[in-house]
Amino acid sequence: MSDTPSPHEQHDHTALIFPPGFLWGAATSAYQVEGGNAHSDWWEFEKKQPPEKRSGEACDQYNRYEEDFSWAKKLNHNAHRLSIEWSRIEPEEGEFSEAEIEHYKKVLKSLKDKDIKVMLTLWHFTLPKWVADKGGWESTKCVHYFIRFVEKIVPSIKEYVDFWITVNEPGVYSWGAYSAGLWPPQRKSLWSQFKVIWNLASAHKKAYKIIHHLDPNAKVGMANNVFSVKVSQEHSVLQHFLVWLYDISGNHSFYLLTGKNTHDFLGLNYYFHQRIGKLESSWLPKFLDPKKARRDISDLGWELYPEGIFDILNDFSSYDKPIYITENGLASTNDDRRARFLVGYLQHIYHAISKGVDVRGYFYWSLVDNFEWHEGFEPRFGLIEVNYETQKRTPRPSAHLYAEIIQHNSISHDLLRLLGHTIKARDILERIKK
Ligand code: FCB
Repeated sequence: MSDTPSPHEQHDHTALIFPPGFLWGAATSAYQVEGGNAHSDWWEFEKKQPPEKRSGEACDQYNRYEEDFSWAKKLNHNAHRLSIEWSRIEPEEGEFSEAEIEHYKKVLKSLKDKDIKVMLTLWHFTLPKWVADKGGWESTKCVHYFIRFVEKIVPSIKEYVDFWITVNEPGVYSWGAYSAGLWPPQRKSLWSQFKVIWNLASAHKKAYKIIHHLDPNAKVGMANNVFSVKVSQEHSVLQHFLVWLYDISGNHSFYLLTGKNTHDFLGLNYYFHQRIGKLESSWLPKFLDPKKARRDISDLGWELYPEGIFDILNDFSSYDKPIYITENGLASTNDDRRARFLVGYLQHIYHAISKGVDVRGYFYWSLVDNFEWHEGFEPRFGLIEVNYETQKRTPRPSAHLYAEIIQHNSISHDLLRLLGHTIKARDILERIKK
């Protein structure tokens, strides 16, 4: 017998190498990490919530950004996604705080000094209270106020920003705040939800133009929540029709409303896999509950389905635009699951790239544990653990595993073994270091 490994064995021992210049980082949003955002609509909303559901000082990143970005650097990140808080910069109508603008310049400069590329989100779910009082995104006035804010802030910070994200997840926001009644202003109206999406689309289009006018070489996009969706009964025409309908309305509608040409790149946030199937109680097929269906789920009950990110990337490759995964992450107190999550999802991103999809970067959600909106502080998404009593930061083993992947710009065969579910991240790291 020959000693030469078969092509199959050779393949099994090959590292998955990512394209040169691939961006590796993590994402956060201002309200979820900064703390003390007292001029925002969310802060007002939280006053009516039980104490454990209030953001309070969150991770105090407003004061600890230097420490957090130093961790990102030590963990080899070469890019970071973050947002600025409109309600700090314009706490009262038309009154812009130069002190807060200076603060954000320091924050962004700190990343630049570390040679970390900056992806900046201009609007991530929260509004100044005065804007919310005037009708928020349900009103076309909000588009006007947002654009005035964009015109003010972009010239001050453009030298530090590599990628602009105009708005984050219009679909999720309009659902949480105007359909499910979970987030301020807690409305439950389909018509309001539609108006909000329409206005966010109009804000994106206008912001795209203005940013390009102020910064001709700018790269501008938005962060779109996308989900993979499958039928349970292959033979059901109705289920296939619903998959198509949910895909078009949930994943693609924002591009239909804004036009492909207002996106220099696609920012995709991927967390959800849905299965459509029959329920006893209804003739209309519905999304099945992954918990009841005994699927692998996160601490928030979201199904884990790494193959779905391949399907999504494959689908969105038809836009012929560079793609960045602007968020993808796991809520779990079990960090070994996070390590496997990272290797699993990155493996499928790699497969999409090797098939020719133009994926250029990945931002894990999140750098640090943080305030998960109406869920409070319980979900643990962080590569870095935060002790909320002391604000002490401790990188988890998964953070070191991610650092290892970034350092080599590849996933080694050893790391792929994690997918066998029997090995702990800590043990693999020790083996590698030997
Ligand atoms: C996304 C949000 C982000 C965070 C993650 C877990 O929908 O953009 O702020 O809450 O979910």
